[in-house]
Amino acid sequence: MKIKDYFKKAQKEGWAIGKFNFSTLEQLKAIFAAAANLKSPIILETSEGESNFIGIQEAVALVKLFSEKFKIPAFLNLDHGKSLEYIKEVVAFGYNLVHFDSSKLPLEENIKETKKVVDYCHKKGIFVEGEVGIVAGSSIIHKEKIEIREEDLTDPEQALKFTKETKVDSLAINIGTFHGVEADGMNPHINLQRLKEIREKTKDIPLILHGGSGTPEEDIKEAIKLGIVGININTELRIVFASALKEEFRLNSDEIVPYKFLPPAIEAVQRVVEKKIKLFGSNGKI
Ligand code: G3H
Ligand code: ZN
Repeated sequence: MKIKDYFKKAQKEGWAIGKFNFSTLEQLKAIFAAAANLKSPIILETSEGESNFIGIQEAVALVKLFSEKFKIPAFLNLDHGKSLEYIKEVVAFGYNLVHFDSSKLPLEENIKETKKVVDYCHKKGIFVEGEVGIVAGSSIIHKEKIEIREEDLTDPEQALKFTKETKVDSLAINIGTFHGVEADGMNPHINLQRLKEIREKTKDIPLILHGGSGTPEEDIKEAIKLGIVGININTELRIVFASALKEEFRLNSDEIVPYKFLPPAIEAVQRVVEKKIKLFGSNGKI
């Protein structure tokens, strides 16, 4: 099945597919181990920074390899692509889908820029996620409070106009989440009413939730019921990966053997991904 078929199936059956970021082989191993254990389809994704680190070709080759090895449907997405040039590059090397994010531009310009990406990608059979509404922050632990501004939330009318005119395949929306988590662990609740209104307007287009880390489980469950079919998770994976490594070196500061100090970090990421897969209900959906 193609990614659009998985989104359709998810819409029909009321579950969501996890979109997990990675930039190292260890994180990728962990995500695949979780997906294989729970027989879940997955989307792997890299931001431009992450793909520059692991390498575009390397990301493509590794995802393909693991997908075949574990017999898991896995799709590789460029997350928050900022330029058509970079998108052309990842598409040439074999990314399956791209998220183009020109959401900071005024709507008309966002539409214009996104259209260019859609025109290019659709000729090549590549699935495109567009974005309306601004999801604040980056995937780190924020020392300061992140302000969710009303004007940054996705406007349902704008979402409809954007999807109609650009012909994107899925839509990233802002319904109150932000990238990263706050140091005190407090995160905002999803604006379910807004989600409902967006869904009513945009009907069948797959809706994607960004900034999934730290969002209360109850909110995630409700959002899935209301039509969210893709959920991006990055920060929570970064936190447990880094924490496990720090703990390993705290316990044994002389350890220098990578295959000894890395496994706990892999296991920690795997545990979080398994928890998310169960929460999203994508287990057993391959
Ligand atoms: O695009 C990536 C995601 O939206 C990740 O958000 O770091 O809050 O999980 P997160
Ligand atoms: Zn995002």
